[in-house]
Amino acid sequence: METKRPNLAVEIAGIKLKNPVMPASGTFGYGEEFAPYLDLERIGAIVTKGLSLKPKAGNPTPRIAETSGGMLNAIGLQNVGVDAFIATKIPFLREVDTPTIVNFFGNTLEEYGEVARRLSDLPEVAGVELNISCPNVKQGGIVFGTDPCAAADVVALVRKHLRKPLIVKLTPNVTDITVTARAVEEAGADAISCINTLTGMAVDIRSRRPRLANGTGGLSGPAIRPIAVRLVHQVVRSVKIPVIGVGGIGCAEDALEFLVVGATAVQVGTANFIDPTAMLSVIEGIEGFCIEEGIDDIREIIGSLRF
Ligand SMILES: Cc1cc2nc3c(=O)[nH]c(=O)nc-3n(C[C@H](O)[C@H](O)[C@H](O)COP(=O)(O)O)c2cc1C
Repeated sequence: METKRPNLAVEIAGIKLKNPVMPASGTFGYGEEFAPYLDLERIGAIVTKGLSLKPKAGNPTPRIAETSGGMLNAIGLQNVGVDAFIATKIPFLREVDTPTIVNFFGNTLEEYGEVARRLSDLPEVAGVELNISCPNVKQGGIVFGTDPCAAADVVALVRKHLRKPLIVKLTPNVTDITVTARAVEEAGADAISCINTLTGMAVDIRSRRPRLANGTGGLSGPAIRPIAVRLVHQVVRSVKIPVIGVGGIGCAEDALEFLVVGATAVQVGTANFIDPTAMLSVIEGIEGFCIEEGIDDIREIIGSLRF
């Protein structure tokens, strides 16, 4: 007798995903770069590298350093800019039968608004993911996402310019993430992704210099997973909108932890650098787990945490 395949389809803010697994922004290029390694139609969504209004060259090197159980990066949000993305990356993405979620950021409120406006009418864009872990250059460099009022302002402005599902990506570098989560929900977010990297630092003891030219960077990878699971757990209980879990996922068991605490979908980041097919193993492993546990629909797992 043939085993019945479980239903892995989920929906995030009206975006239909064939399964809950997608890449984390900045670890999957613009999708095309990974096409030689995996069938892009097998994953739940494509999430692009973060875009800004103008192209950005990023930070000086070294801008990546390996650490125990993870890595530090200070890429500096290098990207081609929104107009070049539309002209040169969208034609490829248009042909792929997988929803594209475009990640973007700004260094001023106006920049956020303008990028949102340019993405708003593109049929190829299923939804956007707003990176609010960026300094506001007009307000002394305070990171939008670390101040609930600034976070709400940027979400409200983007909401005004955008006729697409709006996912807001939270920074973990705050005292109480539930305050930011509620602020962005109230300001018009349709979903939340959680978490971006944690600020860290590593030092070369011989040269006495930081290992990143930038000094500090964002910590990602397995080292941050328990923190991410805890934060997703907290956020899920404080908002009504769906949450996408991100942070240190490398296999199906890792992804399932996030689903059990209530994430509707997950993103795989740093693991793509170790194995570009990591997401396929995660999808197959989730399916195998459902079959083993006699689960017909992934939604039975989502939020099934017991205390
Ligand atoms: C090299 C690198 C580049 C990243 N670029 C972005 C980005 O452009 N926009 C964004 O929102 N997050 C960016 N991130 C954060 C990831 O999307 C993700 O939130 C974080 O790495 C945690 O997931 P992981 O532990 O699975 O990597 C980047 C992470 C890395 C490692």
